[in-house]
Amino acid sequence: MLITVIGSGYVGLVSGTCFADFGHDVICVDKAEDKIEKLKGGQIPIYEPGLEELVASNVKAGRLSFTTELSDAVRTADVVFIAVGTPSRRGDGHADLSYVYAAAKEIAASLDGFTVVVTKSTVPVGTGDEVERIIRETNPDADFEVVSNPEFLREGAAINDFKRPDRIVVGLTDERAKSVMTEVYRPLYLNRAPLVFTSRRTSELIKYAGNAFLAMKITFINELADLSEAVGADVQDVARGIGLDNRIGAKFLNAGPGYGGSCFPKDTLALVKTAQDHSSPVRLIETTCSINDQRKRSMSKKVAEAVGGDVRGKKIAVLGLTFKPNTDDMRDSPALSIIQALQDKGAEIHAYDPEGMDSAAQLTEHVTFGSDAYEIAKDAHALVIITEWNAFRALDFGRLKKDMAAPVLVDLRNIYGKDEVAKYGFSYTCVGRPDQEI
Ligand code: UGA
Repeated sequence: MLITVIGSGYVGLVSGTCFADFGHDVICVDKAEDKIEKLKGGQIPIYEPGLEELVASNVKAGRLSFTTELSDAVRTADVVFIAVGTPSRRGDGHADLSYVYAAAKEIAASLDGFTVVVTKSTVPVGTGDEVERIIRETNPDADFEVVSNPEFLREGAAINDFKRPDRIVVGLTDERAKSVMTEVYRPLYLNRAPLVFTSRRTSELIKYAGNAFLAMKITFINELADLSEAVGADVQDVARGIGLDNRIGAKFLNAGPGYGGSCFPKDTLALVKTAQDHSSPVRLIETTCSINDQRKRSMSKKVAEAVGGDVRGKKIAVLGLTFKPNTDDMRDSPALSIIQALQDKGAEIHAYDPEGMDSAAQLTEHVTFGSDAYEIAKDAHALVIITEWNAFRALDFGRLKKDMAAPVLVDLRNIYGKDEVAKYGFSYTCVGRPDQEI
């Protein structure tokens, strides 16, 4: 099976590499020449654990290659995946589909023989219909089928998620396309990953429904965290208590500073817009979006309270900048809103993140970056954990206490407990565990 993947971002690069690892022949295409040059030289433009090794071994085996030339790669392909970005459109929150449609037009001109064109990018309901229309209009003689096959991988765990998915969703009606897609996913099917065939529009909606539900689940537990603080309950026990009910499930019930990333914020907003366009509002999701937006900034209040009510002129050390661990992605990271809010209140910010600092430097102003937790904590009035990198889970509090201006820990990911840090003389503030706050 010859697979061409258009777009070498997170989804495109991980999917292409994993397809190659299944034994398919894969060509990854991207317009960005510098990116393709890097990939050809064995350099990976994103941080994703395990990806560099997997790319290297598949390139070496001759199954994976990179190019900026779309037409040759499409002409020879049995399947063409569109995995280009669908960012929020400036101004209105709709998904910007210009890259998808531009790719469809370019693909159309090069199709040769029966080809399955698959949208893997996260696209609103009806996009597959438009992709089909564009291809047919551009190349009326082309023999093709447009299929929806959304991706559910998480950054930081992308390879494992791709290779061991809970399910694979494929939206199509045509039998020829069905047998091609079955062949593409045969290695996973043999691993018993459920292959859900449905209509194209349903498949497109499943992707948004999944992300929106997870965003809602996180927001639910975040609000319960605030309530737990108000009534003297422990949100982690609440999460465990409800999560053990199989109908609810234990995952995605970790309270924190709000969800970020390249997917939940943009996809929830896009779903809201699609629903409004169809006069069928999704009010739970609308509310989820606004609660989450407010939550990120409001975390700065916790920091202010922990240092006695006012951060003005105080040095605040921020540990963790990316929207979650094991990625270098800063998109919509809660850290950005929290840092801005603290700076607005007059705080001086010093920060450290294992992978996100280059990108954070572009997105923030007046932040001093350090090379580890201890460097930024020197003379700080509070240490604030925003992202739960493993490297922050065993800090030397004895050493920190000696170097900090005040022993104050604000743990927005609940990775420590009061007793653990109190023995070093630290005051402790966390999320939704009031008896843990001293
Ligand atoms: C998310 C989905 O989990 C993937 O299934 C989906 O494929 C992907 O979006 C996408 O559409 O491409 P991702 O954005 O990589 O994946 O990251 P998540 O692990 O879902 O985390 C998103 C945000 O929620 C992070 O800021 C994380 O810290 C936060 N979160 C997650 C919580 O605050 N609490 C939790 O319990 C879980």
